[in-house]
Formats: sequence, structure tokens, C-alpha cells
Amino acid sequence: MDFIVVTAYGSVETAVSAMREGAEDFLTKPVDLAVLELRIRKLLEKRELRHEVRRLRDRLKDRIDVEGLVAESKTMQEVLRMAARVAATDSTVLITGESGTGKERIADLIQARSRRRDRPYVRVNCAALPETLLETELFGHVKGAFTGAHRDRDGRFLEADGGTLLLDEIGELAPSTQAKLLRALQEKEIVRVGEGRPIRVDVRILAATNRDLEEEVRAGRFREDLYYRIQVITIHVPPLRNRREDIAALIPEIVARASAEAGIPPRPVSREAVDLLLRYPFPGNIRELSNILERAVILGTGDQIRVEDLPERVRGAAAEDPSAPDPAGRTLPELVEELERRAIRRALAEAGGIKARAARSLGIAERVIRYKMKKYGIEPT
Ligand SMILES: Nc1ncnc2c1ncn2[C@@H]1O[C@H](COP(=O)(O)OP(=O)(O)OP(=O)(O)O)[C@@H](O)[C@H]1O
Ligand SMILES: [Mg+2]
Repeated sequence: MDFIVVTAYGSVETAVSAMREGAEDFLTKPVDLAVLELRIRKLLEKRELRHEVRRLRDRLKDRIDVEGLVAESKTMQEVLRMAARVAATDSTVLITGESGTGKERIADLIQARSRRRDRPYVRVNCAALPETLLETELFGHVKGAFTGAHRDRDGRFLEADGGTLLLDEIGELAPSTQAKLLRALQEKEIVRVGEGRPIRVDVRILAATNRDLEEEVRAGRFREDLYYRIQVITIHVPPLRNRREDIAALIPEIVARASAEAGIPPRPVSREAVDLLLRYPFPGNIRELSNILERAVILGTGDQIRVEDLPERVRGAAAEDPSAPDPAGRTLPELVEELERRAIRRALAEAGGIKARAARSLGIAERVIRYKMKKYGIEPT
């Protein structure tokens, strides 16, 4: 509690001792009420400030920072928080998100923060190999198992024993490999190709995909039982266009890195160029942003990276920008509402009317999209 001492004994000594006892302020009688009011108001302001400082400090403490990983947006902070939480467990994690959003970076982060961080970390890109090769790649084989198998080979599962295995692009697995993988996950043992005897393995599985596995299951391309095995915990990395704060923060990071790699001093990016990039939808996400900026760093000649250094598709996208409502004669809340309406309608249409998915693509909670749909009278399509 804060208090002000009012006293008839206006000596320096009483003032000092009152303050020492914790009084915020000290007044001598007779008290001018206007002065008292002013002092009280000051006191309240001070208290308010103290609370504000505490709030900000708490929020800073809450912020997760990982070196080299940009996460300015609320949604990415949430992703990092989730990653940190699951890292401590041995739970299987499915990381979803469009191409180039940073799924692999999140997988690396989980591994680096896990108890298994000093054990093997093996990554397999399931899309990179044809079915037959992928099987021996994952599970290994014994000598003579097939033509060309001149000696035993361990396979990635065994290499990862005691550690972590990242199954990247898991949505690309062929049905027969899916069956074997399911068995490995359920029984915690693998069978090398050409060998009957199973071998026990202790592997923590991380999986990543840019496909909608639910959709794949529905279409009969992905085993439902395997899907339920791997989606114990799902972390969705939102597309870059839904986290503009990250675009703004990534630009200087990437320019600095690309400049260092090219051996030239980093140049600033002009306001206009930044504005254009902020408006571009980035179908290729962070990877596309990196390519665009690397190119600009290398080819640009001015003392700044300018609009002319950006590719045609970025410059063109801004010229039309069909999603921007005309601001003439309208209030900011009206404009925001219109943008929200449109974004929600579009996301719902793209998600085939599935609210959870639309919410995910907008980087908001399902509860929030429900609320806004009701508020704006939007019917699911
Ligand atoms: N939060 C981030 N901060 C800085 N750089 C990032 C971040 N996320 C991703 N990147 C960079 O963007 C590029 C793409 O990331 P990554 O390979 O993890 O994406 P992905 O989702 O696995 O893509 P794909 O589906 O194409 O495999 C990489 O160069 C990565 O270093
Ligand atoms: Mg990847």
C-alpha cells in the first residue's frame, strides 16, 4: 500500500523518518486540498508506471529468443513456446506448414532443446529417394538382401538409436514404407531388409510435412493409423504472409547474412522496397524472401537496396493489391473490419469451410474465428 504522511510537525527529521518508514510523500498542515489531490494523482501515476514496468518485464521474460531464428510475431512466439514445451518430452511431434516456412528449423530447435541433444540427430528426406531405396535407407539391410547389397548396412533408424530421427516430407511416403514405419513406431523395433530378426531401437521421432495429412488420409494416400501415431502433438508453422512482423525483422537479418557471404558491406533497404516486400504474399515463404534478397544484394548497385532490385513479381503484386480496401472517407475501424471480413471469407473458402483450418492459416485461434464469424455474420461456405 502507498501512503502520504500529513503532519503538523513539519521538521526535516520527521519528514526523513516518515519517508524511511515507507511513506511516498510528506505534507505539513494546513494542507491545501488541491495540493493533496495533485500529490495523490502523482502517486497513482507512479504506481501505474510500476505495474507497467513489471508487466513489460514479465513479457520480456516470456519471450523466447533463439539465435538466428526470427520470431517477432505473436504466432511465431507461440510456435517457439510450444516447441520449447515439447522439447523436454520424448513425444512424437508433427510439424506442418507450407514449403519454406521453417519447419526444419523448428525440428532442429526441438532436438537442440531436448534431453537427447547430445545423442545422434538423423534426418531423412522421405521425398528424396524412390520407395525401394528409402526402405533400406530407413531400416538398413543385410548382405545379399538384394543385388548390390555387398555388405550389411545399418539404416537411419539404427544410426539414430538413443537419439532423434527427423522424417522430413513424411507425406511423401509410399504405402508399403508407411506400413513398415508404423510397425517400427508401435513395436519400437525395426527389421533390416533381408533379415527376419527384429532389432530394438530407442528413437524419438520428429516428422514434418507441407501436405495436409488429414486430407491425405481422407484421400486414402496416408494410413490413418500411422497418422494418429505421429500427430500426437502438432506444431503448425504459419505462412510468412500471416506474420508481417517477421518479414520486417527478417529483411535486415537476411541482407546482413547474404552480404557477409558475398563479401560486401551490408546496404540498407529503402523504405519503398520494404513496403513492397511487406505487401507481397510470399508463396515460397522465408525461402523465397531469402532468394529475393540474396539476388538484390548481389545484383544491386546503388547505396541502398531499392525497388528496382526486387523481382518483377514483387513489384507487380503491389501495383494491383486487390485486397486493399479504398481508405477514402472511412474510419480505421471500418477498414480493419472490411479487411478482416475478406481475409476470413477467403481463408474459409480455401479451407473448404473447415473453421479450424481457416483459423490456422490466419494464425488465430479457432475460438477467435468463430467469434468473428458471428460478429460479422459470415456463414461457413
Ligand atoms: N524463423 C526463422 N528465422 C530465420 N530464418 C528462418 C526461419 N525459419 C526458416 N528460416 C530459413 O528459411 C529457410 C527455409 O526454412 P526450412 O528449410 O526450415 O523450411 P521448411 O519449412 O522445412 O521448407 P520445405 O517445406 O521447403 O522443406 C531456411 O534457409 C531457414 O534457415
Ligand atoms: Mg524442409
